[in-house]
Amino acid sequence: MNKAKIISGIELGSSKVTTIIAQVVEDPTLMEKSVNVVGVATAPSRGIKKGQIVNIEEAVEATITSVEAAERMAGYNLSSAFISLGGAHIHSQNSHGVVAISDQNGEIGEGDVERVIDAARAISIPQSREVIHVIPREYIVDGESGVKDPIGMSGVRLEVDTHIITASDAAMKNLRKAVKEVGIDVNGFVFSGLASSEAVLTATEKELGCVLVDIGGGTTALSVFIEGAPVYSSVIPIGAKNVTNDLAIGLRVSLEGAEKIKLLLSDEKKQKKDDVDDLDLTELGLPDIKKISKKTLVEGIIKPRLHEIFSMVKLELDREGLGNRVPSGVVVTGGGAQTIGVLESAKRITLLSARIGKPQGLTGLIDDIIDPSYATVAGLALYGARSEASLPLTSFAKRIKLPTKGMLGKFFGIIKDLLP
Ligand SMILES: Nc1ncnc2c1ncn2[C@@H]1O[C@H](COP(=O)(O)OP(=O)(O)OP(=O)(O)O)[C@@H](O)[C@H]1O
Ligand SMILES: [Mg+2]
Repeated sequence: MNKAKIISGIELGSSKVTTIIAQVVEDPTLMEKSVNVVGVATAPSRGIKKGQIVNIEEAVEATITSVEAAERMAGYNLSSAFISLGGAHIHSQNSHGVVAISDQNGEIGEGDVERVIDAARAISIPQSREVIHVIPREYIVDGESGVKDPIGMSGVRLEVDTHIITASDAAMKNLRKAVKEVGIDVNGFVFSGLASSEAVLTATEKELGCVLVDIGGGTTALSVFIEGAPVYSSVIPIGAKNVTNDLAIGLRVSLEGAEKIKLLLSDEKKQKKDDVDDLDLTELGLPDIKKISKKTLVEGIIKPRLHEIFSMVKLELDREGLGNRVPSGVVVTGGGAQTIGVLESAKRITLLSARIGKPQGLTGLIDDIIDPSYATVAGLALYGARSEASLPLTSFAKRIKLPTKGMLGKFFGIIKDLLP
């Protein structure tokens, strides 16, 4: 028999707030699972700058708009969701934990794994920060490294290498408050770079070593994978909106005009294949500017900004000693991945191979979301489906939301009225 449950994800991004609702269908006999998108909607972002909430009320309104549109599409009423986490306050470090195996016969149980992860988690971080993820990279049993799942193995000493992602307490407080005001329980916070990796990276890329670069509106999230697990996470406070700003300043046009010009440039269908350098802007209806040299725009304005973004990526990789440990190269995603010339810049500056990453692995209403801008929310659904899968089946049932929005509301209304 198929078991279905609902997983939702929300990205409160600097450019747009996106909600995804997916149905996870598990077939226990086949041990297979599909993540079937039933609703997805975006609303223009407000109250969020560089991945962080700067105005709770505005952020709440934008989120409600996006959540309600996704709910209407899915016919489900959301009560909980995985929430992505962005912003330059996100830092990471790697930590090691060691414990003695408790079982007399030396068989490693779940308790030992929990204890060793706790031991690794016990790092000293400033009071103003909180731990968001503790991701086991590999286990070491009696000195034997490279163990992915130690449960059932025998030994006396269990060690773990973990990747720890931390966030600022203040930023988390604002995000929690906003989500609470929207009326949604948090299933978990997921670093946006990690969520995007879930949707766009292949298992081989992660195993060999690669860098995910999610260029959003206000930020660029980095997630480096080696041997199948994350080793470095960070956020650079520059994104594709900076390209728009540069165009607006350089061409003396409004931000809206600059955004239109940027999108026109990245639309390959609208680009003439001949060598004509002039870009015809008449269809954009901008005042005072009808034609412009494409070379001036691309080489003079856009490229320097992309170079800056990838120089910062390279700087971080080299600083962390990771520059030559990522043979699978750079995978660029996020809305900014569609900027003209992005791959050329990525390759030239990082000296690595590069490709654009689009969300994979989802079924259902995916026409809109097979686009780099949706990497994070697609990843939230996949992450949610994977992490919830380890819960017992009884807790799946509790999470299923009934499609009868009105009836459910009335039902809870009556229960509430009956309570003292
Ligand atoms: N077709 C396109 N061509 C060029 N740029 C694009 C295109 N589509 C979107 N963008 C740019 O992508 C950026 C938005 O990306 P995205 O939707 O990933 O941001 P976000 O997740 O809201 O922001 P962040 O992750 O930084 O908080 C905008 O600057 C937008 O101009
Ligand atoms: Mg984003």
